[in-house]
Amino acid sequence: MAQQTKQIPVSSIILDEDIYPRKGINHRRVGIFSENIRDGFKFDPIEVEPCPDKPGWYRLLEWAHRWSAFKSTGVEEVKAIIKNLDGNDPLLYAAAKAIGPKQLTEDEAKDTARRAYSGNTSLTSTDIGKAIGRSRQTVDLYLTDLRAVNQMDRDIKIFRLNRLGIPQDRMAKRLGLDQKTIHYHLGKMPMLANSLNGDLTRGFTVAQVAQKHSWTEPMVWSLALEGKNDHDRFKELGWGYCTWDKWEWNDCDKRFGDDWPGRIPAQMIAHILRCFSKPDDLILDPMAGGGVTPDTCLAMGRRCWAFDLMDRPETRPEIEPFHWDISSDQGLLWPVSAKGKPDLIIFDPPYFDKKAADYYKKSISGLSRKAYLEFLEAFFVLLKQNVKKTTRMAFINADWRDFQNKPAIEEKYKGGILLDDYLDVLKKAGWYHTHIIQAPMSSQRFNAGVVSAMQKKNILGVISRYVIVLGQEC
Ligand SMILES: C[S@@+](CC[C@H](N)C(=O)[O-])C[C@H]1O[C@@H](n2cnc3c(N)ncnc32)[C@H](O)[C@@H]1O
Repeated sequence: MAQQTKQIPVSSIILDEDIYPRKGINHRRVGIFSENIRDGFKFDPIEVEPCPDKPGWYRLLEWAHRWSAFKSTGVEEVKAIIKNLDGNDPLLYAAAKAIGPKQLTEDEAKDTARRAYSGNTSLTSTDIGKAIGRSRQTVDLYLTDLRAVNQMDRDIKIFRLNRLGIPQDRMAKRLGLDQKTIHYHLGKMPMLANSLNGDLTRGFTVAQVAQKHSWTEPMVWSLALEGKNDHDRFKELGWGYCTWDKWEWNDCDKRFGDDWPGRIPAQMIAHILRCFSKPDDLILDPMAGGGVTPDTCLAMGRRCWAFDLMDRPETRPEIEPFHWDISSDQGLLWPVSAKGKPDLIIFDPPYFDKKAADYYKKSISGLSRKAYLEFLEAFFVLLKQNVKKTTRMAFINADWRDFQNKPAIEEKYKGGILLDDYLDVLKKAGWYHTHIIQAPMSSQRFNAGVVSAMQKKNILGVISRYVIVLGQEC
């Protein structure tokens, strides 16, 4: 571990409770140290590390009582060893240092072990035990309940990723585990499913089982609907099937996907899956946002690989973080190895300009009209190069027209992006549409005040949205 020793102001040192293993400061000890300081006694330097998010500040790793004594006796500068812990856990480091002068109490040792483990679940009982001066067995006892919750949480994530057909090497990378551990946990999946299936057979509803086992509803649906065909799955999920090429819903089904800017109804994804894919097909969603595609794939028995700029490892481990970046030195890259190619792509990009403020700043919604269309063309070419000849794409898009707060008759062309613009770009990239399905957004999202203002001014708003389904042959 690198270190340097120098004089630093006492006022630049803090006691950070997150990495302090004791329950509090013992004022009698501080009093004794204060007397020593007044008597001119010279202490060893105190140990600190730079505060991670506060440049110029240091947090104590050792000698909290002496530091308190320096403060109370008005010492302005002290000699300090500034440590770089090189990734070692600062709480455990501080605990190990505390053992020398005075053992941690039982409460302090237990609390430190639990805090260290919660901050880093890959720490072993032996590592923790060494730092806090307790045996491995004692630490095992301190951590029993935390480990059980963590194991369950991990098993649930592995179940979800496995169910969606994410290969083991990517699961391991995503969950920060090695492949052997993933393999071991996969062996437990049938048992895990049995306990939920038992509750479903006993007549509990999907929502009740999900709540009882802390699973998401789509995961429980994936078990409850196992072996059923698409028709029966729709029935059980309470979705009517639209036979014609106009799909309309007033609301998103809240059981699938998160509240997300530009969220689309799960019913729309389910219709795309039912019409243009088969059970167990692999679906790719390159900009998956709130996760409505992977959730619906679970319920419809399809595999799904999903990517997005936004990384939410805890709530959406199945959405792998990836930036489709046309401006990078290597140009647009493909996120995974050549193994496994999707049967269907469901692509729901953020709409040009409109939602720019809602998304992360690297989002393509912040691009100019020209750059946005150039991105799409390059992206469609990239997709074509990396999928099968038979792969289809369902491209979800909405007309973007600036209605300029004017009556429709006075509106001027101001560079909107409409259906024909998308079709041009798609054709240039070698994708040919077989279906254009109207799937308008619900007009109910406009409140009565807005509608009345639009009516007064003769404004023609936009709710048109399409699912363009494409293949690669003429
Ligand atoms: C319209 S949203 C998808 C919504 C999703 N279908 C749903 O219903 O929840 C578009 C997503 O594209 C992502 N995105 C935008 N630009 C991206 C880029 N260059 N690379 C990766 N993801 C991007 C945004 O983070 C956003 O979540």
